[in-house]
Amino acid sequence: MCGIIGVAGASEHGAAPPLLDGLEYLTYRGYDSCGIATLANGRVERRRAAGRVANLQAVLKDAPMAGDTGIAHTRWATHGVPNETNAHPHGNAEVAIVHNGIVENFSSLRAELTDAGHEFETDTDSEAIAHLIVFHLRRGLTPEAAADAAFARLRGAFAVAAIVARAPGRIFVVRHGCPLTIGIGEHQTWVGSDALALAPFTDRIIHLDEGDRATVTAAGASVRAVDGQPVERPTVTSSIVPTAFGKGGYRHYMQKEIHEQPIVIGDALRALLDTRAMRAEAPDLPFRFADIDRLILVGCGTSFYAAGVARHWFEELAQLPVDVDISSEFQDRAPLFGPAGRSAAILISQSGETADTLAALRQLRAQRVPTVALVNMTSSTMANEADAVVAIHAGSEISVASTKAFTAQLATLACLALAAGRARGKLDSEHEARLAAELTAVPAKMADILAAQNRLQDVASDLIRAPSVLYLGRGPAASVAREGALKMKEISYIHAEAYPMGELKHGPLALIDEHVPTVGIVPSDPLFTKNASNLAEVNARNGPIILVSDDNGISELGETARHTIKVPHSDPFVAPLLYAVPLQLLAYHAAVLKGTDVDNPRNLAKTVTVS
Ligand code: M6R
Repeated sequence: MCGIIGVAGASEHGAAPPLLDGLEYLTYRGYDSCGIATLANGRVERRRAAGRVANLQAVLKDAPMAGDTGIAHTRWATHGVPNETNAHPHGNAEVAIVHNGIVENFSSLRAELTDAGHEFETDTDSEAIAHLIVFHLRRGLTPEAAADAAFARLRGAFAVAAIVARAPGRIFVVRHGCPLTIGIGEHQTWVGSDALALAPFTDRIIHLDEGDRATVTAAGASVRAVDGQPVERPTVTSSIVPTAFGKGGYRHYMQKEIHEQPIVIGDALRALLDTRAMRAEAPDLPFRFADIDRLILVGCGTSFYAAGVARHWFEELAQLPVDVDISSEFQDRAPLFGPAGRSAAILISQSGETADTLAALRQLRAQRVPTVALVNMTSSTMANEADAVVAIHAGSEISVASTKAFTAQLATLACLALAAGRARGKLDSEHEARLAAELTAVPAKMADILAAQNRLQDVASDLIRAPSVLYLGRGPAASVAREGALKMKEISYIHAEAYPMGELKHGPLALIDEHVPTVGIVPSDPLFTKNASNLAEVNARNGPIILVSDDNGISELGETARHTIKVPHSDPFVAPLLYAVPLQLLAYHAAVLKGTDVDNPRNLAKTVTVS
C-alpha cells in the first residue's frame, strides 16, 4: 500500500536525500508512483514521478530541492490512474499533504470546496485534504489548527502528513484507521507509515493511537488525542534491524527470504518449542484450549492459506473444531460464535495491518470473542488491539510475495496445535515428542531443498510457456497448492489455479490437455493412493505432470511425470512446511525467466491497508 516518510530538521544536505532513501525502503509496500515535498524559502516545493523511485531521482537531479523539512510518498493507486498528476504530495505553494488510506467522503468534500472556489487537479480522494487545509488557513486559522480542522472533516481510514509554508520546520500528522509512526532521531524527527519504514533512520519509535494528531519538529513531537487534549505516548525501542534490508548478495529480496527459511523456522520453533522436553510451550493466551469448543482462524492471501493448513492440525491433534475464514468475507457475513467463552479466534497476518483482518479482529472483539494476533510485526495495530500476541519471528519480509512468513506462520501454528492437543488431553506426551522432533528436523530438510534449487529453473522454463498451470493437493496439501498457485500468479503473471485433488473430476479436468501442466503436491502419506489415481486421470489426458513428492512417491509415480521435484521424506505433520519451499522457488524462477519485477509485482502492495 501507499507509504509515508517525512523528516523535520534533516542534516546539512537537506530533507530530499534522506527522503529519497526513505522512498527506496518504502518500495517493499508496493507502489506505482512517488513524490517529495519540502519547505524551502517560505514556500512548498513538490517533485513527483510516475513509476519507480529512480524516475523521481532523475527529476530531482534536474531540479534539486532545498529545505530541511519535508514529506514523501509512494502511491499505490486506488482513486485515479498511477500518473504524475495523481502522485502525492498534493497541494500547492502553500500546503502539501501525503495520505495513506481512503477518504470516503471525498466526493462531497470536493463538491463543497469546488463551490468555495478551489480548483482540483487530480482524480484522487487525497487532494481534498490539501484543499481543506488551505480553506482553513484562509479562514485565519493557525497552520496547526487548520490541519486539525481539515483532519476532523475526513471520514474513512487515513494517515496523513502535511506541511504548510507558513509553518517552517513542522509536519502535521493524523492517524485514523491507518498506522502512522514517529521516529526520534539525534537531531531530527521522522514520520513513517510503520516502524519498518523508519528502521534505517532510528529505532526510537512513538506509535500514535487511533485518532491522534501530532505536530512534529526537529526537537520531537507534541501529540494530541482526538479531543485535542495533549497526551504523552511512550517512546519504545524497535527491534527491527535495518541491515535486514540489504539483499545480502541475492538478486531479489524474495530469493533472500526464501533462503532465510531454515534460520527463520529455527527461530519460530525456538520461541514455542522446548527441545529438551520435546513439547510445545503454550504462550500466554486469553483462553484455555481445554475450555473452547471452536477455534476461528482468519486471514487474507497467504495468511489465509496458513490457516487452511492449521485447521487440519487443530482438528486432528486437538480434536478442536475449526472455522477458517477469509477476512474480507468474514466481515460481510453474520458469523455465529456460540455460547460466550466457548469460541476463540486467531487472526493471522504477517504485517498486522491488513485492513480486512483488522476489521475482523474488531468484529470479534465487539462480540467478546477472545482474540490472538499471530503476526510478524509485533508493533502493529493488530498486535496492539488483540487480547494477546503470538510472534512468528520471521524478521523483516520485504518482498511483496510472502514466503518465509508463510512457513513461520505454519511453524508457529503447528506448535500451538501441539499445545492444544496436550491441553485437551488428545495428544499423549510420546506422540507430542515425536511430532516435536519432526518439527525440529524441518530447518535442515529445508536447507536440503534449497540446495537443489538449480534444477527448478528447468521446470520453470517449461511453465512459462503454459497458458495456465493447475496446482493439486489433498488435505493440508490443498492449502499448500493454493499458496503455490498464488505465488506463481502474483510474481510471474502466469495464470495458476489450485484445487483440492478430489475436485478434479468435478470440473477442472476439462482444462487438461498437453499444454496445461499440473503441479501435483503428493507426499507419500495415507492420502497417496487417492492422489495417485487422480494424477493418473491427468496423465490419461496427456496433461504434463510436475510431481512434487519424496523418494517413495517419485519411485511409484515418477515415470508418469514430465518433471519430478524431490522433497525429503517426513511425517505428514510437517510436510506442508517442506512442500511450500519448492513451490516458492518454482514461482521465483518462472518470474525471473519472464523478467518481471519479482519483489514489486504490478498492481500489488505488500500491506493492504484499505478494504
Ligand atoms: O500482512 P498479511 O499477512 O495480513 O497480508 C495478507 C496478504 O495480503 C498477503 O499474504 C498477500 O496475499 C501476499 N502478497 C501473498 O504473497
